[in-house]
Amino acid sequence: MTALRTLEAAAWAGEVAAAFVERLQSTPSLRVCLPTGATPIPVYDALAARIGRGDASFAQATVILLDEWLGLPPGDPARCDTRLRAQLLDRLPVPPAAVHTIEVDAPDLEATVARHAACSLDLDLVVLGLGINGHVGFNEPGSLPDSPTRVVRLAASSRRAAMARYGSATVPTAGITLGMDRILAARKVWLLVTGERKAGILRRALRDPEGPDCPASYLRRHRGLTVFTDSEAAALLG
Ligand code: F6R
Repeated sequence: MTALRTLEAAAWAGEVAAAFVERLQSTPSLRVCLPTGATPIPVYDALAARIGRGDASFAQATVILLDEWLGLPPGDPARCDTRLRAQLLDRLPVPPAAVHTIEVDAPDLEATVARHAACSLDLDLVVLGLGINGHVGFNEPGSLPDSPTRVVRLAASSRRAAMARYGSATVPTAGITLGMDRILAARKVWLLVTGERKAGILRRALRDPEGPDCPASYLRRHRGLTVFTDSEAAALLG
């Protein structure tokens, strides 16, 4: 049963951050997988402020990066590791006990994939954004519930949507993503969705039969799924 929390846009980020603070308070050693993208930015702002005030701490938590582009140099502003550090991790007064980014600069990518799959076992929480084509992480359309952590070719719409925003000189065509298998095995999954332009795909993900054309639709089989949406993205849910 999907828990749907529809919030007013102005309150959305603060409410998601409050839920995150509660998770850290109840499970200080939280093992959490985090996305980048535009959607979580206001949540990370609100969360960094709450942590800065001492409401909770990441000191005992493990943070695992959801996905990463291939072909961008270390420090590139579009890299997911660069973004997560700038938007959240570097703003914490005490850093997390462990941070697992995805070692895309290592020579052996298969070994990188295997390491990422190994470190993302036993996740307490996976936080996700929703791609405009129904992807979660870089699990593009065609992904199945048992799709593993892997190197993926990115859909053209995903590349355009991301790189147009981040100002990278190169447009990567591939990435590494946490697999659907690991996402569905986590204790809790939070899907963050905001804005009118996501209303159609959110309706597809939650209301139409599940299927590989919209990998996010598979999240509904997870008993610990919470969808945090604003009223604009929820407009077509009826
Ligand atoms: C980002 C990621 C992507 C985004 C999705 C939504 O790490 O894995 O799946 O969550 O593309 O992106 P935004 O939030 O920019 O609309």
